[in-house]
Amino acid sequence: MDIIVQGDAEWLANRILDFELSKEAVISEIKKIPLTLREKAFQTILKNRTFHGGILAEGSGFLKYGENGKGIHSRWYPATIAKRILNLANIADRIDFRCDDGLKVMEEFSGRCGVVYFIDPPYTAGGKKAGKRLYKHYGLDHERLFRACENMEGDFLMTHDNAEEVKDMARSHGFQMRLVPMNNTHHATMEELVIGRNLSWMDGFPSVHELNAEYAYRATKKKRCGKPLKADTA
Ligand SMILES: C[S@@+](CC[C@H](N)C(=O)[O-])C[C@H]1O[C@@H](n2cnc3c(N)ncnc32)[C@H](O)[C@@H]1O
Repeated sequence: MDIIVQGDAEWLANRILDFELSKEAVISEIKKIPLTLREKAFQTILKNRTFHGGILAEGSGFLKYGENGKGIHSRWYPATIAKRILNLANIADRIDFRCDDGLKVMEEFSGRCGVVYFIDPPYTAGGKKAGKRLYKHYGLDHERLFRACENMEGDFLMTHDNAEEVKDMARSHGFQMRLVPMNNTHHATMEELVIGRNLSWMDGFPSVHELNAEYAYRATKKKRCGKPLKADTA
C-alpha cells in the first residue's frame, strides 16, 4: 500500500503483468535481496499469491493443490491483481498509510463522528492458535478492541472468528452479529462472524459476492453526525 501511495502503482502493476510464473521463477525472485521498497512489495505479493493460504509467516510453503488443483497458478491472476493496484492508485491521495498499532489509531479518531472503521483483527481471542500461526503480529487485547468500538463516535464493521469468547464479548458490549460463509486455507467452507452496532441491513442479502464493478469515485456530501443507534443484539 505504501508503494501505491508513493506513486509506484504503475511500476508494480507492470511488474506483475510481465512476470512469467513458475516455481523456479518464484524461488529465484524471492531469494533476491530487495534493494528498493517497490521490489520488496513485488516479492511480498508474489509470496502472498503463491504460498499456502497466502501465509507469509516463517515456515510457510508453496501452494501444492490450490484452487481446483492449479497449484501456484491458482491465485495468480495477474490482470486482476494489476487492475486492483491501479484502481487503488486512483484514490491514493485519500489514503494515509500508517505502520502503527490499529488500536492507537482508532483511539485517536474515537471522538470524530462520520468516521467508519473496518476491523479485521487476528483470530487469537480465547487463546486460539490460528492467528498466532498466520501472523507475525498476533498479540491483541481483544477486550480493549471491543471497548474502543463501543466508545467511539463513528460506526464500525468487524469480521471475527466464530468463537464463543468473541460472541460473549460482542454481546457484553451490546453489538449485533451475523454469520457469513468464508473459505479457509484448506478450501473448506466455514463461517465467520460479522459484528456491528446494527446489522439489520445485512438481512436483505442472502449471499455475498464481489461484484466485478468499474470503480467510480466522486465527492460525497458529509453525512450528518450522530452515533448510530444500537439495535437489539442477535
Ligand atoms: C485477519 S488479518 C487482516 C487481513 C487483511 N484484512 C487483509 O485482507 O489482508 C489481521 C492482521 O492484523 C494485524 N495486527 C495484529 N495486531 C494489530 C494491531 N494492534 N494493529 C494493527 N494491526 C494488527 C496482523 O499482523 C494481521 O496482519
